[in-house]
Amino acid sequence: MTDKEHMSSRELGLVLAQQLLDVEDLHYGLWDADLEVSLGNVALAQQRYTAMLLALLERLLAGCSEPRLLDVGCGTGHMLQRLLEQGYRVDAVNPSAHLNKLVHERLAARPATTLYETGFETLPFKQLQQHYDVLLFSESFQYIPLPDIFTQAPGLLRPGGRLVICDFFKTDAHCDGGHGDRSFSGGHVLADFYRAVDASAFRISHDEDLTARVSPNIALLDEWLTQRLHPALLSIDDYLLGAYPRLTRVLKWLARHKLARARYKYLSGHRSQAVFEKYKSYRLLVLELG
Ligand SMILES: C[S@@+](CC[C@H](N)C(=O)[O-])C[C@H]1O[C@@H](n2cnc3c(N)ncnc32)[C@H](O)[C@@H]1O
Repeated sequence: MTDKEHMSSRELGLVLAQQLLDVEDLHYGLWDADLEVSLGNVALAQQRYTAMLLALLERLLAGCSEPRLLDVGCGTGHMLQRLLEQGYRVDAVNPSAHLNKLVHERLAARPATTLYETGFETLPFKQLQQHYDVLLFSESFQYIPLPDIFTQAPGLLRPGGRLVICDFFKTDAHCDGGHGDRSFSGGHVLADFYRAVDASAFRISHDEDLTARVSPNIALLDEWLTQRLHPALLSIDDYLLGAYPRLTRVLKWLARHKLARARYKYLSGHRSQAVFEKYKSYRLLVLELG
């Protein structure tokens, strides 16, 4: 995507999260009982998540000589940088022009790493046949259609290669019309995912439910959105209605459907920890080829 191309609302959410919370990572982090749930601890929770993935990769790749990884949806490139520091050979693929600027800054002194500035679905698959030992999807799996993953991923991997996936999926409660059902988009339906794996060249060798260790972040974000962002937006609204009453009313009317959706999703308190735990299952998965 070039700078001039349209930014999707999901990409805007990621970019705003990175800018407003000033974080290096775009994942939820791991919140164990000893870690107080506070904005000040977000970076620490994210470090714990990164450490967990690095330890898992170290175990998985212990017997592999000169392992090569692809960081799919590399966000700001922080995990990519950590992987490179561990001595792995790593490439990345990421479609967000804004985030890719940050990745390029990190990669300035790393000419051996290629950043494919596109979506996973449009990688140069022919050129990358059997190129990687691990495809890492850290909270990026949900963005990629399942058929694309299961038809394209096997060709990218060396024999015995793996997919490492850490992301949330939709539970069976999805679409039951209950409180907050529509407040989190994203995530493949977990049952569809298991069916797609069964029909694929992969088998699951690790499947861990991390929902309860991740969901405190949702409570934190919900509090921040409703207690901080919402009052700030109301103040801006008050100001604009006072300073430019007609223009503001017309613009708000034109954008009324989008504003109503955003209000429901982000500012109404529907995005709670309990809603997340009911409708989402956050999982760490390892899928092995063959
Ligand atoms: C929630 S962020 C996670 C970023 C990073 N992996 C992390 O753990 O901090 C999701 C990432 O997936 C990327 N993404 C979205 N659609 C994608 C696609 N079709 N193929 C590859 N990456 C995609 C986004 O640009 C973003 O960098």
